[in-house]
Amino acid sequence: SRFFAIVPAAGSGSRMGAKRPKQYLELAGRPMLWHALATLTRVSRIERVCVVLSPEDEWWEEFDWQPLAERLQVLRVGGSTRAGSVANALRVLAADLAAEDWVLVHDAARACLTEAQVDGLIEALADDPVGGLLAQPVADTLKRSGADGRVAATVSREAMWQAQTPQMFRLGLLREALQAKPGVTDEAGAVEALGLCPRLIAADATNFKLTYPQDLALAELILRARSE
Ligand code: C5P
Repeated sequence: SRFFAIVPAAGSGSRMGAKRPKQYLELAGRPMLWHALATLTRVSRIERVCVVLSPEDEWWEEFDWQPLAERLQVLRVGGSTRAGSVANALRVLAADLAAEDWVLVHDAARACLTEAQVDGLIEALADDPVGGLLAQPVADTLKRSGADGRVAATVSREAMWQAQTPQMFRLGLLREALQAKPGVTDEAGAVEALGLCPRLIAADATNFKLTYPQDLALAELILRARSE
């Protein structure tokens, strides 16, 4: 089989509270989006990395993507939700990919992804009948909130995982799943709705999603430490 990556980057990043979409905020001397694209384009088994931009994106052209260009495909087909952006990209890719080809969907906002994490995911799932995702076992005790910011219940953390990306599924299955269940917040959720059980591949906390302003400093530390 062949392997492809899709990076949805058509969000507005409203929780970051910045003037520009978060994927274009500066992080370790590059726009945030650069880091995940650079990592995925270095993975030898991934033939092509498709970045999904909003049709109204005004920021992409401001940066130099030439060093990554050889394995990058830019699709200005972003939708109003993450799942919509991914589904639109899959529709374009279906024109020249086979239904059995593997697609790894990765958040632009997980800038600290490493090649080793991606290699591990591909290695673990290349013969899997369903596919799966990187995820991290929950370390903290979990509380469900009730009224007035008070604890309503303690939830067992046993067998609980935080879903990360990349999430890796075959193109045909993923298209079918997202068509049937367009409201999901990750690809695995759509595949689960078909009655299938994606595999959880343990990853670590460095593959966190940059969501709030304070996340930028932590990601910068991680990226700079690695480049030393
Ligand atoms: O907002 P959140 O951090 O959950 O977004 C996850 C990823 O999905 C980000 O990379 C974001 O740019 C992308 N996204 C998208 N199209 C949307 C909304 C989010 O590509 N309409």
